[in-house]
Amino acid sequence: MTSGPGAGGFTQLPGMTKDRDADFGSLEERIMIALSEKRIVVTGGSGFLGSHVVERLRAQGCRKLFVPRSAQYNLCRQSEIARMLEEARPEVIIHLAAVVGGIGANRENPGRFYYENLIMGAELMEQARRAGVAKFVAVGTVCAYPKFAAVPFREDDLWSGYPEETNAPYGLAKKMLLVQAQAYRQQYGFNAIYLLPVNLYGPRDSFDPAKSHVIPALIKKCVDAVDRGADEIEVWGTGAASREFLYVEDCAEAITLASARYDGADPINLGAGSEIKIRDLVGLIADLCGFKGRIVWNADKPDGQPRRCLEVTRAEREFGFKATTEFRDGLSRTIDWYQAARQSVESEEHAGGQAAAGR
Ligand SMILES: NC(=O)c1ccc[n+]([C@@H]2O[C@H](COP(=O)([O-])OP(=O)(O)OC[C@H]3O[C@@H](n4cnc5c(N)ncnc54)[C@H](OP(=O)(O)O)[C@@H]3O)[C@@H](O)[C@H]2O)c1
Repeated sequence: MTSGPGAGGFTQLPGMTKDRDADFGSLEERIMIALSEKRIVVTGGSGFLGSHVVERLRAQGCRKLFVPRSAQYNLCRQSEIARMLEEARPEVIIHLAAVVGGIGANRENPGRFYYENLIMGAELMEQARRAGVAKFVAVGTVCAYPKFAAVPFREDDLWSGYPEETNAPYGLAKKMLLVQAQAYRQQYGFNAIYLLPVNLYGPRDSFDPAKSHVIPALIKKCVDAVDRGADEIEVWGTGAASREFLYVEDCAEAITLASARYDGADPINLGAGSEIKIRDLVGLIADLCGFKGRIVWNADKPDGQPRRCLEVTRAEREFGFKATTEFRDGLSRTIDWYQAARQSVESEEHAGGQAAAGR
């Protein structure tokens, strides 16, 4: 019943239509997998995106969830993947484990980001297929798109050029999961789907300067500057590049919708469908954080890909996903979370220090 790569790859079930322009009313009927009844492994389920996906699955009634932590199961190793699959016996795998980071981390670790992401995904999908897993959800990244793809990026343009050099090893390693998913669908009828989220932001993101992405990095800079009473902050690049951002809870919703409703070979973009120039983003974050000083642009540092914005209609058509979080609201929630988390970390450190001093 499934079709090959590039041919639409849509499994037709009773009550479903193969017409891509079909009425959206039929989407509700496209529940191919009742997730609440399934044993689900969420690799990377303790990470930024993964923790929101797990939360969402729980809220939908999923109780048979298994999150393999890297300390117990290093998923770069064949034998540890095998042990994890034996213990968890998943029917569905949502593969979010990855080594990730912003421009700086990608520049410092191109080899590690390439190897670990490639091997983890390739081996996990292979063993999942052999173990008879019913559904494999692979999550790629906007970094897989060609550096100069026409904006907005359409899924059909994924192979029209080489990615932006800084994150090409990471982006291409993850892009191989798309090739694998399509090849396995064609040869084995394996139900693997491939989703491409744009840059994410939201609570529980990493604010560690060694690996943070642009939004947490800017929030931290502004909040720290306000605390110190600094009158300027330095920002990488020229501010001319543009980016699209998807609120992490929206992305988690998209992933759970696709896990339940989508069974096709075509890759699917997950985005908010609008872009903002980094210069405007910095202004907005400074404003929300109450930083009123000067912004100094360090043009010796890279801008990264010139523009990033996804064409997002396929996700809506195929499984009814449309991002709903307003960008300003999402940023405010992220800043609030960071300020609260920071305070609790600092007060724990303070309490620890006092306890130690009293001993
Ligand atoms: N963040 C974004 O803006 C963004 C955008 C597009 C796509 N994505 C994709 O979304 C996924 C999640 O990203 P994220 O930002 O949530 O990353 P994250 O917070 O760093 O989480 C990644 C998780 O992967 C796990 N992991 C790493 N290496 C592992 C290994 N060898 N064995 C087992 N587990 C391992 C870690 O688990 P432990 O905690 O147990 O060590 C970690 O919690 C990735 O596939 C990423 O490519 C993210």
